Amino acid sequence: MNKTFNLMGSEVVEGFACKPKKLVSTKPIMHFKTQIFICNDERCAKAHKNENLAEDLRNILKDIDLAKGEKRIKISRTGCFGACRFRSVANIYENTKANGYEPNNNVWIKNIHKYKKEQWIELFTSLSDNKDINETNFKQIPISEPSLYK
Ligand code: FES
Repeated sequence: MNKTFNLMGSEVVEGFACKPKKLVSTKPIMHFKTQIFICNDERCAKAHKNENLAEDLRNILKDIDLAKGEKRIKISRTGCFGACRFRSVANIYENTKANGYEPNNNVWIKNIHKYKKEQWIELFTSLSDNKDINETNFKQIPISEPSLYK
């Protein structure tokens, strides 16, 4: 039987894409430049109707060579953000400790269930190239001023 290895070089459990066979608790998690949290809770999942959205996005990242290396984009699924009215919702964080790039940090995008593959590629390459998302057509979720809730 052929052995399979994940991107961190660990042998993976049969039937899994990245679950390591041997757990090394001291091994660091893999570097990422940008992390995108995809809401996979009830309302957003119902909107995007794709149980494998995170996996599909990881495959796109592999195709465009952003699944590893300095500009790696990490996709994580999350529960409800409490922003369901903007579904389907994703949240973008830059690893500013590593790259110092703040303009795309804490960006919230909406209606991602409408994104076609080409739009995902545009988003990923924009993030990779440090193109300010405020200067693109990706629709964002507004965030209120804290003074409104004093
Ligand atoms: S279910 Fe996605 S923000 Fe609530």
